[in-house]
Amino acid sequence: MTYQERLDKDRIPNHVAIIMDGNGRWAKERGLERTAGHAKGVEVLRNLLLGGIKIGIRYLTLYTFSTENWNRPDEEVYNLMQLLFDNLEEEMFIRNETRLHVIGDTSKIPSWVMEKVNHCVENTKHFDRLHLVMALSYSSRWEITDAVRTISKKVANGEIKAEDINEDMISQALSTNFVADPELMIRTGGEIRLSNFLLWQSAYTELYFSDTYWPDFNLEELCKAVYYYQHRERRFGLTGEQVEQSIK
Ligand code: FPP
Repeated sequence: MTYQERLDKDRIPNHVAIIMDGNGRWAKERGLERTAGHAKGVEVLRNLLLGGIKIGIRYLTLYTFSTENWNRPDEEVYNLMQLLFDNLEEEMFIRNETRLHVIGDTSKIPSWVMEKVNHCVENTKHFDRLHLVMALSYSSRWEITDAVRTISKKVANGEIKAEDINEDMISQALSTNFVADPELMIRTGGEIRLSNFLLWQSAYTELYFSDTYWPDFNLEELCKAVYYYQHRERRFGLTGEQVEQSIK
């Protein structure tokens, strides 16, 4: 029986975040340029979008390009931008009723890429089947710093008092304020860390680490991650007994 067949259809996570890692190593092991790994990674992404829709995930947040990725060689950065430009097919989003969202410091992304991205965001904003959240030039520390700045300005101009700042207010000041926190975060490629991704939002997220390089990841692997998620007890700081009581 496949993992896809074993899934409990009533307990599919609403929001799954993915750190797509391992493109470079996948390419290197095959004697290819790193960009070939990213290109294969895009193919995987396309398949998973359709797969995500099929199993009922509503929000998929992908770490597409981190703030730190700007430090990669110019050629690789350029190739990633080109790949994004070439593969952002509005038609595919429309065909699959998928809404595109972008989070991150997009002021740094070249304007020829952002024009296409913004166009796609605008033309898909009425769709609600799957929400694809692309983290572009994103890092949690950038996002939290930006939120602190926003809230500080409100305190400075007397709109709110410092004592009134609460967790909700901070969540609302983050770029992910349109979606509930992810229930599941997957990282491929064998590393066990979050690399500055959704640090505030993942306070209670179940983490799943896969050794598979992103270009080898597929729907069955995604279903395996969801299956493990479904078999973990989410306690939110309560005891196991309290959780049992609360679901009786
Ligand atoms: C990490 O692999 C992956 C990235 C930096 C980019 C992720 C991007 C894609 C999957 C494709 C781009 C998507 C679009 C829509 C353009 P790595 O290069 O860090 O791999 P390594 O750890 O093996 O070196």
